[in-house]
Amino acid sequence: MDIKTEKRSNFTGKLGFVLAAAGSAVGLGNIWRFPYLAAKYGGGIFLITYIVLALTFGFCLMIAEIAIGRKTGLSAIGAFKKISKKFAFIGWIVSIIPMIILPYYSVIGGWVTKYMVAFVTGQGHAAAADGYFEAFITKAGEPILWFTIFIGITALVVMLGVVKGIERVSKIMMPVLVVLSVFIAIYVMFIDGAWAGVIYYIKPDFSKFSFMTVVSAMGQLFYSMSLAMGIMITYGSYMKKDVNLEKSVHNIEIFDTGIAFFAGLMIIPAVFAFSGGNEEALGKGPSLMFITLPKVFNTMFGGQVIGALFFILVLFAALTSSVSLMETVISIIQDKVKIGRKKLCLIVLLGCILVGLPSSLGYGVWGGVKILGLQFLDFFDFISNSILMPIAAFLICIFIGFVVKPSFVTDEIELNGKFKMKKMFNAMVKYIAPVCLIVILVFAILDVFGILTI
Ligand code: TRP
Repeated sequence: MDIKTEKRSNFTGKLGFVLAAAGSAVGLGNIWRFPYLAAKYGGGIFLITYIVLALTFGFCLMIAEIAIGRKTGLSAIGAFKKISKKFAFIGWIVSIIPMIILPYYSVIGGWVTKYMVAFVTGQGHAAAADGYFEAFITKAGEPILWFTIFIGITALVVMLGVVKGIERVSKIMMPVLVVLSVFIAIYVMFIDGAWAGVIYYIKPDFSKFSFMTVVSAMGQLFYSMSLAMGIMITYGSYMKKDVNLEKSVHNIEIFDTGIAFFAGLMIIPAVFAFSGGNEEALGKGPSLMFITLPKVFNTMFGGQVIGALFFILVLFAALTSSVSLMETVISIIQDKVKIGRKKLCLIVLLGCILVGLPSSLGYGVWGGVKILGLQFLDFFDFISNSILMPIAAFLICIFIGFVVKPSFVTDEIELNGKFKMKKMFNAMVKYIAPVCLIVILVFAILDVFGILTI
């Protein structure tokens, strides 16, 4: 086949739109990132901030992105270019984001792979011991090996074009993951000392509110719902005209937030049960899930089997996301450069390994190297979620609110009946969201430079 005319693959396949978009949305963001942020930024107050933002801002941005995609039938770069040459640059900004996320996402994916293998091979008890995670992560070679395995599998799936197969499997696995998470969360609640954690997680303590609560909740919203990076525009472009947009977005949001909620309920009370819920234990950051969950499985009857199953399911959720991230990166490059798909896969794979290396080493031998006071993984995470995504979201809102006008989006939504949230949508994209986004961006920058501690 002449590679030049090879079509880029359509990764939604025959799946229903909601399931496909939810498959992209549900991943490590829900299970790994949400709980550690909620633990760090005040528990209940983070949860409520997140939910309010999801229902208002998240809803508007997601429906806008999907509508732009469906209306233009193109993915981000093409869509913005088609609407306005002058604003084509927005497409470029949103396209950089998945390139930054994919490498460090795969580093965490590697950790999940390691824990999955540990549980499957009967080393689950060892994984629950204090210091197990520390010992693993501070090594140079081992985390890199697992990271390479994870990104390698991702590239293989993309290269062999078996994306649809993976999605079909994960369609079965996803509901199992939901059921298992609910089961584990309920189990955790009954562990001695866990109840204080349930309260911490659910009851908002307004004295714990800070600007960083909003900054991190907003970043998490972008990340978890795959917003402000053009991905939902692409999904929208595959969407049929007769699907109700408003309902679909509500469904995706409920699904995504529900899984995140239960992941928090699984992990945060466990932190209280096993380490008293002091600030140090709650502020563990990216390592939180890996430290607490093995301890939970360790106390559980049949915990080793359940742990193995759990990590297999999480690995699948992570893979569907990393595969779709890689697909996004590849299709962006393919739009510009004519390279064969297999070759491009290899180039992207190598690029990811190179960019991901510092994130992996940042926990061990390069632990002393800090950028703006952050280690590599946190730095990439911060740049994408707290800086680039708010900028992209701001530009998208201004673009819709003042360049093409909100009716560009609302007309598309109204093809399938009345848009109930139209008033809120208009006010949100024109005024509320842009102002909030700028404030958030400024605070995030001030905070990281240590100018203002908020
Ligand atoms: N939302 C995914 C998660 O929660 C991560 C993600 C962000 C993603 N952007 C994406 C996945 C784009 C696929 C495509 O883990």
